[in-house]
Amino acid sequence: MRQIIVQFGGTGDLAQKKLYPAYRNLLNKGYDFTVIALGRRYPDCEAFIKGMEIENNSDFHKHLEYVHYDMADPTGIGNLEQKIDDIIDCATSIELIYYIALQPSLYEEAIKQIKIIDSHVSCSISKKIVVEKPFGFDSASARRYNKILSQAFTDEEIYRIDHYLGKEFMQNLLIMRFHNDIIRSIWNNRTIESIQIIFDETHGVDQRLGFYEKIGVVRDTIQNHILQIVTYLTMSEPASFSPEDIATEKIKVLRSIKPIQDYHLGRYESLGSAGGRRINTPTYAALKLYVNTFYYAGIPIYIRTGKMQGKAVSQIYVKFKNTTKTVMNDDKIRENGVIINTHPELTIDISMNLKEPNTSWKSKPVKFRFNHAETFGVNTPEAYEQIVEKILQSDKSLFPTMREILESWRIVEPMLNETQDIEIYPDHTRPKFAKRMIAKDHLKWFV
Ligand code: BG6
Repeated sequence: MRQIIVQFGGTGDLAQKKLYPAYRNLLNKGYDFTVIALGRRYPDCEAFIKGMEIENNSDFHKHLEYVHYDMADPTGIGNLEQKIDDIIDCATSIELIYYIALQPSLYEEAIKQIKIIDSHVSCSISKKIVVEKPFGFDSASARRYNKILSQAFTDEEIYRIDHYLGKEFMQNLLIMRFHNDIIRSIWNNRTIESIQIIFDETHGVDQRLGFYEKIGVVRDTIQNHILQIVTYLTMSEPASFSPEDIATEKIKVLRSIKPIQDYHLGRYESLGSAGGRRINTPTYAALKLYVNTFYYAGIPIYIRTGKMQGKAVSQIYVKFKNTTKTVMNDDKIRENGVIINTHPELTIDISMNLKEPNTSWKSKPVKFRFNHAETFGVNTPEAYEQIVEKILQSDKSLFPTMREILESWRIVEPMLNETQDIEIYPDHTRPKFAKRMIAKDHLKWFV
């Protein structure tokens, strides 16, 4: 089958930084597809390749086409139709994969244009549509966008992206939890005291101001990446690792989480004057939530995430109850923990207390570490490469379903209220509310 990816937003940041490297690696791996990049920025393919810094004569270069495409100008459609006609041959079966890396507000127009393009192709084709996160701005708009997509695509043909599901650490969470009896038996509210999820980034919104100022941290990462991490940490075992069975368990988790009430928002100082306008989009959040299922109810999950921080941290900390210190009547005995670091490399530590040499019955916490790169080498595919590979293979295991997306919007809905207080934090510092929120529960952030 001949697969053709029609890349809307083909000159954007996501395409350049994530998608084109993923396409290049997949072509090197032996996949065979053509990419038609659509964009307004460059007049022709030569300028596009130069401007996007794509190596000339690479394998990717040979599979790449460019069409100057302005969604507001109907001549673009004709140019794209012509390009598709030049490429396809009706003797081979054809699959058109429309990849929409655009603002959700442009979906409606994109679908209108896709319908025209589809009706122009005279041979029979199969098709898919890929849409980036966030899927909508809230529950109502997500429903509306889904309705628009379903005018031209079945649910089976719609791939809603959350690139975190393509990350090795996410898939490893499920394997760690469900392929190990010892982990299964301790992974519940009888033994876990609290969980922290920390995703701090040092960079700001950079070139993505136009996108980010309408979105903010809640829609950018909490409604999707963070809630997906929560589901992977707390779902029950799926009947199998099939997409349907995993989705069933994830939905149970999401449905058990109440709309978030305990949260704070912040914005880094220099963003306020970016672009010569006043911008008050939240770039940082700290929040607490509970998963109210039988095995996880009562475990507070503390989350802190955002931009322009002093140090990049991507960490999950699972803290176990410390009954030992009472039983052994020794306050110095530390709790056990599982610490998952996902950046710059994936490590999983289990922290245990063992005897400190030359002491009489004194213990010290030590870490048993798994280092992914040391064990398996450094050639793990990037998240987007795994995601695109699944799209080419028509495998939906790494894509959130529409139900998950709607439940996630319901959970973050209180955080979307536009009139709430936003703390301004100096660049590269942590907003004060992060410490305050967790200190209220007599706890500290692990890092
Ligand atoms: C993206 C967000 O989805 O995820 C970005 O839009 C964020 O704002 C990024 O920086 C983080 O992804 P990763 O793969 O760098 O952890």
